Formats: sequence, structure tokens, C-alpha cells
Amino acid sequence: MKTRRAMLFAALPLTLAGAAVAQSSRRDPTPAGGDHPAGPTPAQTEGPYFTPNSPLRAGLYEPGMDGTRLRVGGLVLDPSCRPLGNVLVDLWQADAQGRYDNAGYRLRGHQFTDAQGRWQFETIVPAIYPGRTRHLHVKLQAPYGKLLTTQLYFPGDTAGNARDRIFDKRLLMNTAGDAEQMIARYDFVLAG
Ligand SMILES: [Fe+2]
Repeated sequence: MKTRRAMLFAALPLTLAGAAVAQSSRRDPTPAGGDHPAGPTPAQTEGPYFTPNSPLRAGLYEPGMDGTRLRVGGLVLDPSCRPLGNVLVDLWQADAQGRYDNAGYRLRGHQFTDAQGRWQFETIVPAIYPGRTRHLHVKLQAPYGKLLTTQLYFPGDTAGNARDRIFDKRLLMNTAGDAEQMIARYDFVLAG
């Protein structure tokens, strides 16, 4: 398992693993602007399945849950590529059958970025459901900042992404992994 995880991390240059190593072995530098999106992260529609007041938790995976395990995370930055701490990151998604839990909070949760601007969830890869390509829903809000509602996409779903009318390539994550475990990274840029 350890070797397998190391291989996954090695395959994704801008990895969460990199952030973790940076944290444990040296001071995390201010990210280089060139490594991150040039403009603010675009907003997208909320869709019909948002539920307010999700639990404060980074672990959305529950034992026995179907689907490919997914560790998704990255940074939240300001337009000058400075990390933003204490940013609310709320994530909700479909399960491995393409269903949302609209009665409870399965596969829903929120957290706050740490001082280095990092966010991360342990979850599963959502299934495609009719009319949409594979995606995650996210809301972000810095303290006293504007709320950003958007969606994140998987680069492996080329055909589904091309057919999806909402899809925006600026919201593609970097991913690595296989049918059992995937790692995905996205760095948000909040305009204000
Ligand atoms: Fe959705």
C-alpha cells in the first residue's frame, strides 16, 4: 500500500503529497505564481442538490461505500498567489451510482483551509448521472469575502466533458490514480 501510494504521488507533480512533505520537512514556501491559474476561479451554477449546514469534516468516505477512493484537495489563493487561510470549503457530490443524498449529509461536508491555504477531502469518485459529466460541487468563502459556487471536473472524462453544456476546462483538476484510488488537485483563486 505504501509503495502504491508513493507511486501515485510520484505521478502527479502538483500533488497533495508534495504539500504534505513540504509541511513536514521544511517551511511551506509561498506558491510560485506560475504554478497556479492566472485568473480567479470561475463561478458555476449551484445545481438542484445543495443542502446547507453540512457537517464540519474532511472525511466523507464511509466504510463500505462503493466507488474509487478519492483524495481531493489543493490550495486556496488570492489573485497574487498568496495562500488564504480560514476559507470555508463546502463540498457535495453524487455517489458511485450517481445519486445525491438529499435527506441526509452522505458525501457532504465542509472545512476551513489551514494557514497555508490547504484544503483536502477523503471521498469517492462520483458517478456520472444523466445529463452531466463527472463533477464535484464546491462553495468557498473567505472570511468577510464573497461566496464562490462552482464545480470541479475530471480530465479523464474527455467525451463526457465535451458533451456537458456546463463544463469549463478552467475547472479541470489534475488527477492521478487507477480504479481503486485517485488523487486530484485543484487550486482555487478567490478574487475577493
Ligand atoms: Fe451535480
